[in-house]
Amino acid sequence: MRCTVFGTGYLGATHAAGMAQLGHEVIGVDVDPGKIAKLSSGDIPFYEPGLRKVLRDNLEAGRLRFTTDYEEAVDFADVHFLGVGTPQKKGEYGADLCHVNAVIDDLVPRLRRSAVIVGKSTVPVGTAADLVARARAIAPDGVDVEIAWNPEFLREGFAVHDTLHPDRIVLGVQRDSVRAEAAIREMYAPLLADEVPFLVTDLQTAELVKVSANAFLATKISFINAISEVCEAADADVTLLADALGYDPRIGRRFLNAGLGFGGGCLPKDIRAFMARAGELGANHALTFLREVDSINMRRRVRMVELATQACGGSLLGANVAVLGAAFKPESDDVRDSPALNVAGLLQLNGAGVNVYDPKAMENSQRMFPTLNYSTSVVEACERADAVLVLTEWQEFVDLDPHRLAETVRAKVVVDGRNCLDVARWQAAGWRVHALGRRVPEAVAS
Ligand SMILES: NC(=O)c1ccc[n+]([C@@H]2O[C@H](COP(=O)([O-])OP(=O)(O)OC[C@H]3O[C@@H](n4cnc5c(N)ncnc54)[C@H](O)[C@@H]3O)[C@@H](O)[C@H]2O)c1
Repeated sequence: MRCTVFGTGYLGATHAAGMAQLGHEVIGVDVDPGKIAKLSSGDIPFYEPGLRKVLRDNLEAGRLRFTTDYEEAVDFADVHFLGVGTPQKKGEYGADLCHVNAVIDDLVPRLRRSAVIVGKSTVPVGTAADLVARARAIAPDGVDVEIAWNPEFLREGFAVHDTLHPDRIVLGVQRDSVRAEAAIREMYAPLLADEVPFLVTDLQTAELVKVSANAFLATKISFINAISEVCEAADADVTLLADALGYDPRIGRRFLNAGLGFGGGCLPKDIRAFMARAGELGANHALTFLREVDSINMRRRVRMVELATQACGGSLLGANVAVLGAAFKPESDDVRDSPALNVAGLLQLNGAGVNVYDPKAMENSQRMFPTLNYSTSVVEACERADAVLVLTEWQEFVDLDPHRLAETVRAKVVVDGRNCLDVARWQAAGWRVHALGRRVPEAVAS
């Protein structure tokens, strides 16, 4: 089959390459010529493990290309995926749909045959229905445009795997739909042959599935972080508590890691847009708990700064702090609303000299926070540090040799913002260990 993908960011570039990998002919379209040039030359404008190979294989096979030209894309296919950004509006909680609307406005009047537009972006419930009306009003005579919604559940860091092996496919279709389900069944035939659950719903349910999933995950993270606040007060160990909870299959251990909390380009803005939309629908009471989820999460960042201050002996003024990690999570270079980078900025505001190192997110971090110092390695970041903060749980940091790092720093003080370090190993190397959300017992003198 043939398809296009409008928007070639984290979601769209992966989806375009993934569809080509399934054997389809694909054109990716973006308004950013720099992004299109990079993708066309087999390079990806962000870090995503495994994506470069899938991209290059399919460019070489002639199944995949990229353009900024809507005209070229319109005639190419009858299935058009929409994967543009839906950021938080400036100064309010709702989602900004200007990019989604722009695709419809630019694409639909150019259509010469009936087509299906399949939304993948995360949007407030009711958006797809609005787009049906919007598209109908501008479609050329005799051209029938169907809107369907196929929310994307991929995780950055595992995007290729999640695209080629999703745990479910949800497709929302118009009540009067005639083409969308058949088109998507054909598009995703290899996935359906693998018995991936396929749920066909109305448009609004499909939109709600995505934001509900993100709201649940955010709630689970903030739940354990709220419990960690109590653990700190009661001198209990939140990581052991999470292990014990996790053995209950009704609860499960995943997303129960206490620490610096969630960030990135999805969870924070999605729960806020969800609250805003529920308010518009008159169901605002239903989601007031998400406000608490959000504030527990933001409190983690402040608590991290307090802990770093404590670790530096009561004041950050003049302290030399190494920040290990800037991406919002490991295996990604995404720094959108990154807790690690936010904390780095706050430390600097409080008078610390901050040296940041991240294995993949340096460029994006420098662009977002140009006034921080950036280092090219862990050792460089930790040179004469009064405290080392681990804020993103990259494997490189988990595997650090505390004996070797001890030679670099001014004070052997580490603050584990992700509860990912082997405390006993660091203590055995003479480090004082602080951990976010739990009291770390002093090392027992041997
Ligand atoms: N990143 C993820 O892991 C992920 C996962 C699931 C869902 N989503 C959702 O997918 C959507 C996209 O997210 P993203 O992270 O890929 O964003 P992104 O900012 O990385 O990419 C969006 C792309 O859309 C392009 N664009 C904007 N206007 C355009 C237009 N009129 N025509 C063509 N291209 C245009 C931008 O130039 C950009 O390249 C969002 O709704 C997000 O919530 C993202």
